[in-house]
Amino acid sequence: MSNEMKASLILDKDFRIGDIDPRIYGSFIEHLGRAVYGGIYEKDHPTADDMGFRRDVLDLVKELNVPMVRYPGGNFLSGYDWEDGVGPLEDRPRRLELAWKTIEPNWIGTNEFAEWAKRANSEVMMAVNLGTRGIEAARNLLEYCNHPSGSKYSDLRIKHGYKEPHNFKLWCLGNEMDGHWQIGHKTAEEYGRLACETARVMKMIDPTIELVASGSSGTWMKTWPEWETIVLDHIYPNADYISMHTYVGNPGNNLSEYLAESLGIDEYIRGTISAVDYVQAKKRGKKQVNLSFDEWNVWFHSNEADTKIEPWGIAPPQLEDHYNFEDALVIGTLIITLLKHADRVKVACLAQLVNVIAPIMTKTGGPAWKQTIFYPFLHASNFGRGAAMNVQVKCPTYKSEKFGDVSLIETVATMDEEKGALTLFAVNRSQDSGLPMEADFRQFPDYKVVEHIVLENADIKAINTIENPNTVAPHTNGSAKITDGKLTAVLPKLSWNVIRLSAR
Ligand code: AHR
Repeated sequence: MSNEMKASLILDKDFRIGDIDPRIYGSFIEHLGRAVYGGIYEKDHPTADDMGFRRDVLDLVKELNVPMVRYPGGNFLSGYDWEDGVGPLEDRPRRLELAWKTIEPNWIGTNEFAEWAKRANSEVMMAVNLGTRGIEAARNLLEYCNHPSGSKYSDLRIKHGYKEPHNFKLWCLGNEMDGHWQIGHKTAEEYGRLACETARVMKMIDPTIELVASGSSGTWMKTWPEWETIVLDHIYPNADYISMHTYVGNPGNNLSEYLAESLGIDEYIRGTISAVDYVQAKKRGKKQVNLSFDEWNVWFHSNEADTKIEPWGIAPPQLEDHYNFEDALVIGTLIITLLKHADRVKVACLAQLVNVIAPIMTKTGGPAWKQTIFYPFLHASNFGRGAAMNVQVKCPTYKSEKFGDVSLIETVATMDEEKGALTLFAVNRSQDSGLPMEADFRQFPDYKVVEHIVLENADIKAINTIENPNTVAPHTNGSAKITDGKLTAVLPKLSWNVIRLSAR
């Protein structure tokens, strides 16, 4: 540990990073485990609506304010025939789902999910299968979803009861195509060519769509970041984003190291930006390709339990991580890191949304509740809008074996000048003590503290359960106040803080 135990911050409009694309608060629903069946959909549930969607889950999703949800996978995507999930229910096949070794009953497909998303106030981030399929299936699916009428697949959609096109605007070109676990995985050359030709055809059908090329499945893939440069070499004119995926965990139970994982995410983002910009420079291109961090979360708790699940069941409880308080802190640091790159990370999806590595848990036939990680996402999604601002920080550091010097505070600010809103997000990583902080916020002289939300807990391993759903929950008794023109507060040890200021 170095330096005096206090933090000095400067908030200044000149430290503006960029506008926050609301889609940075996206999430993800895959046909996996109980995400769809028993998660968003359960036709016999007491809260089920006319289409069988759980209203209790919809209410929690709306509270999270998720502007966009990625669908239908994930690894599931690479073996999926979209035609199985449309048309009369009685004609839909049951399929061996090879990615997760289950039976897919196809009770929910493209049209039902589009309807669910509407009810959740979300857009759909759609995906085409480039594992077992290719240009033709992608062409037909896009025509089915976005073309108004008067063609084979648009008329088929109308016949299926959906007169208006879905008009999905953002599409993924496959999923994790670099991964050996992926059905139909490819070399960068193979994928780059296929994605390029698929993208060309898709933009012929609907030039208003945006496309996400499949990037590396993480920095741990030996092919990162060369994969990005090879793929973009092919698809640069037609790709708007390149995808990034990362899951972190604490299997070794080392809190200091775990709390520093966001530094790895920062390196991953910076490295991917370099690769993408290198291709732009090489091509003398004018267009900037941005980042779609469309899978990020903590994932490790459920790994052992999953190995005991019998194959070929319908919606078994797979990847059901029960998150504790320390996971919520890590999620806070990851959100802050994404915001610190708001100029280039335009899309991000917390993976996933319900039951499967998710902020929302349900009991089939029973209630739904908020996991610990629900809260940092909730606060950022609701209060972290407008533009992101770097915060200049002077504070003590600690040494991490993996990441070197780690600041005790991880922080970023957001401002929405039209609404007169300024929000400071901060995680105190200190395991020993609260950290007094003083912030010079010189360009916001009329701003007053609205509230100081704190998520803290004496037990870092505390979780929310069906019996005790509020063990880990935020309070608004934080100590932020304005003294002599400075914003001061004590950030409790191991805490997530949201200090909201307003000009009104
Ligand atoms: O989100 C769970 C899985 O993680 C996804 O299906 C896959 O894309 C990733 O490996």
